[in-house]
Amino acid sequence: SKFPVVAPSMLKCDFGNMESEIVRLEEAGASLLHLDVMDGHFVPNLSYGPMVIQRVRERTELVLDAHLMISDPEKYLDEYVKAGCDWITVHIEAVPDPREILKRIREAGSLAGISLNPKTPVSAISSLKGLVDIVLVMSVEPGFGGQSFIPESVERVAEVREVFGETAIVSIDGGIGPQTIPLVAPHQVDVYVAGSSIFDQSSYADAIREMTETAQS
Ligand code: DX5
Ligand code: ZN
Repeated sequence: SKFPVVAPSMLKCDFGNMESEIVRLEEAGASLLHLDVMDGHFVPNLSYGPMVIQRVRERTELVLDAHLMISDPEKYLDEYVKAGCDWITVHIEAVPDPREILKRIREAGSLAGISLNPKTPVSAISSLKGLVDIVLVMSVEPGFGGQSFIPESVERVAEVREVFGETAIVSIDGGIGPQTIPLVAPHQVDVYVAGSSIFDQSSYADAIREMTETAQS
């Protein structure tokens, strides 16, 4: 299996040197890039949108994993599809009709993901089994990198894995690093999103290797 993998969160990259950051991550063995899209409304921070993602797409073959922390994602979905996102994840708290948008994402040829904030019960998404390809469990409040892992996230990942079985890729996002990976690894997490624990290191390759080995053991 191609999992578990460590997915660098580009929120923490040097935006003045995005191309060289992408090359460094490719050389470090990354297989996907996690792209945090923030609109200053669903979350109290602003990052980048489809124009930037399209430029990233032109420079890499890596899987582009778009995490849309935006209100009304159904209005903007087509732009993210056109920008070349391979995976598109929306927040359950932001979509009145999750079935409709998940269906649209799949019809566009991308993998469809649903994410849930730390305070949202797993029961809010359990009826979406079979309609989602990815469940992204937030282990911090979305909006900023560099926060501490919320310990209750361990039980939430376990519950997601129990409800979704092998039908979904399970991803965890927020405060992930060598210390926190062992807490959730027993629940067969597929994707470990990591910002600070990669970009704060001088060697991205060492950071990714260490975390991947931790996730596999
Ligand atoms: C938070 C984002 C995360 C974040 C991870 O809203 O979804 O992807 O950038 O950063 P770290 O790994 O520093 O918690
Ligand atoms: Zn994210």
